[in-house]
Amino acid sequence: MPQHVVVIGAGVIGLSSAILLQQAGHAVTIVARDFPEPFETMDPLTKINYTSPWGGAHNRWVPPHPSLPPHLTREHALSRTTYTHMQRLYHTHPHTAGLTFLKGVEYMERPGPAQEALSTPSAPNALDLPGFRLLDRSEFPGGGSGSDGKGGGVTWGCEYDTWCVNPMVYCAFLLRRFVNRGGRVVRRELRRPEEGFALSAGELGLAVDGGGGDGEKGVPVVAAVVNASGTGLVPDPDMTITRGQTCLVAEDCDVTVTRQNEDGTWTFCVPRGFEGGTIIGGTKELNNWDTKPSAEVRAELLRRFVETYPKILGDKKELTVVRDIVGRRPTRNGGPRIEGEVVPGAGFVMHAYGLGGRGYELSWGVAEAVVEGVEAQIKGAAAKL
Ligand SMILES: Cc1cc2nc3c(=O)[nH]c(=O)nc-3n(C[C@H](O)[C@H](O)[C@H](O)COP(=O)(O)OP(=O)(O)OC[C@H]3O[C@@H](n4cnc5c(N)ncnc54)[C@H](O)[C@@H]3O)c2cc1C
Ligand SMILES: *[C@@H]1O[C@H](CO)[C@@H](O)[C@H](O)[C@H]1NC(C)=O
Ligand SMILES: *[C@@H]1O[C@H](CO)[C@@H](O)[C@H](O)[C@H]1NC(C)=O
Repeated sequence: MPQHVVVIGAGVIGLSSAILLQQAGHAVTIVARDFPEPFETMDPLTKINYTSPWGGAHNRWVPPHPSLPPHLTREHALSRTTYTHMQRLYHTHPHTAGLTFLKGVEYMERPGPAQEALSTPSAPNALDLPGFRLLDRSEFPGGGSGSDGKGGGVTWGCEYDTWCVNPMVYCAFLLRRFVNRGGRVVRRELRRPEEGFALSAGELGLAVDGGGGDGEKGVPVVAAVVNASGTGLVPDPDMTITRGQTCLVAEDCDVTVTRQNEDGTWTFCVPRGFEGGTIIGGTKELNNWDTKPSAEVRAELLRRFVETYPKILGDKKELTVVRDIVGRRPTRNGGPRIEGEVVPGAGFVMHAYGLGGRGYELSWGVAEAVVEGVEAQIKGAAAKL
C-alpha cells in the first residue's frame, strides 16, 4: 500500500530524497520555506539560510584514509553512489538537468597520507577513481618551478573525471520532475519536524472526506517525516555553519580546479555551465555568521585563482565579476546525520542533514539511505500489526 511521506526541505537533499521515495512508490509531499528559483533573482539577505543556491557545486573526490576521520569512509561511498546517479541523469538529460561532466584538477602544496596512498607506484589509483591520473611536475601551476610565490608551491597534483551542477538549474529540474510525477509541494515554515505529521488532508492532496485519510479527526496518516532542513529547525548542539565567500564571474572554465594551500586556505573554481559563469572560491570559516561579502577577500580569491589557472582568462586581462556570494554550509560535528528516530507522540522522523560542504556530491547516496530507513520503518510497523 502506498504510504504518505512528508519531506521537510527543498534543498538538494530534500529534493533528491523526495524523488527516490516517489520512485519507490510512496505518496510524497515536500514542505519547505524555500524552493528553487532563478539564481539571478535570488535575494542573499532573505535566502542566506537556504544553502543550496549558494553552493558551487562540483564533486571533488575526498579519499578516505585511516589517518582521517572515519565518517569520510562512509561519505566516500555516498559520493560514489551519487556519481553513478549523475552519470545516468546526464545520459538521459544532457541539456536540461543543469549537469556537466568534465575533468577535475587538484593541486596541493602539502599532500597528506591520503594523497601519498594514491601516489604509490604499485597502486597509483587504489580507490579506482574514474579517469584518475597523477600530474607531472611540469603540469603544476608555475611549471613546478618551486616556492616562488607564483603558484610554484604546489608539490602534488592529479586529475580525474567528475561533474558540476548549476545549482538552481539542477534543483529546479529536480523539483519539476517531482511535481510532474505527482509530487505535492507546500510552502510553509515549520517550527518542529513533528508538525509534518499534522498536515491536513488537503495539504497532502487527499480528498478531505476519506480517500485514505484514515487517521483521527480527519488527520491523515503520515508514515514518516524526512528532516532535510539544512541549517536548522530546532537546535542540534552538534550543528553549526561554515561560512563560504565566493565570487561568480562571467567566464567559463574547461575544468573544475581545487588547490589546497599550505596556509590552510583554498583556491578553486566551479564552472556552472548553462550560461551561469564560473564560481571562484573560496573561504571556509567555521561559525562565522557574517552575511556581508568582503571586497578584499574577493580580490584575493580572484588573484590567487588567476595565478593558479591563468588559462581561464583566455585573451582577457581580468575576470568579469557578476556577483559576490556568501553561503552557510550546514556543518555537523562528527559528520552528517542520516538516521531514523521515533519521536514520542509524533512518529518516525528520518534525519538527513548536516551535509556541510558536500550536499550535492553526496545527495543521491543520502537519498538512497533515506529510502532504506523509511522502508525499514514501514515494514517494521506493518509487521507489528
Ligand atoms: C560557498 C559554498 C560552496 C559549496 N560548494 C559545494 C560543492 O562544490 N559541492 C557540494 O556538494 N556542496 C557544496 N556546498 C554545500 C552544499 O551547498 C550544501 O551541502 C547543500 O546545499 C545543503 O543542502 P540541504 O538540502 O541540506 O540544505 P538547504 O539547501 O539549506 O535546504 C534546506 C531546506 O529546508 C527548508 N527549511 C529549513 N528550515 C525550515 C523550516 N523551519 N520550515 C520549513 N522549511 C525549512 C529550507 O527552506 C530549504 O528548503 C557549498 C556550499 C557553500 C556555501
Ligand atoms: C538565519 O538563521 C539564523 C540562525 O537561526 C537567524 O538568526 C536569522 O534570522 C536567519 N536569517 C534569515 C534571513 O532568515
Ligand atoms: C532536524 O534537522 C535540524 C537541522 O536542520 C536539526 O537541527 C534538528 O535537530 C533535527 N531534528 C529535529 C527533531 O528537529
